[in-house]
Amino acid sequence: MRLPDPARPTLVLSALLLILLGLGNLEARPRGKHVVKEKIGQRYYLRACSACHGAGKLGGNMATQAEWKELLAHHGKELIELHEGEENTTAVIRYLKSPQFEKEHDRLLKFLQEFANDSESIPTCY
Ligand code: HEC
Repeated sequence: MRLPDPARPTLVLSALLLILLGLGNLEARPRGKHVVKEKIGQRYYLRACSACHGAGKLGGNMATQAEWKELLAHHGKELIELHEGEENTTAVIRYLKSPQFEKEHDRLLKFLQEFANDSESIPTCY
């Protein structure tokens, strides 16, 4: 009769540990990041606005869907005015005046409207 392989219990333990670690990761993943439909717009927001306005819920909550549309209209005219004279806003004003903003406008607006304070789809529990 063959003796049991001494490496076996260690292998089983390692496997168990890996499974446990894996489950831990699965549980941790959704926390912190909001589940949104407009993911590209969210990326634009996170890059241009979140440093000062938070991760999304806070930011979007600043206005209603209609107000966001207006704020971003006419090349971000109102939004630029709101940031003029505020501290450290040179970069965001430069962004709003750039062709890059024109390109990103539609998706950014969609994202902001998703989180607007009159939106029905605000993901509150994440
Ligand atoms: C460097 C920091 C900074 C960045 C980046 C920034 N903001 Fe602001 N924002 C401010 C400050 C400061 C104010 C004026 C004070 C206030 O109303 O909170 C403001 C005001 C606003 C307001 C008016 C809020 C109100 O209560 O009337 C809106 C809307 C807004 N920002 C949206 C945005 C969006 C959208 C972006 C990204 C494109 C952005 N901000 C990027 C600092 C920033």
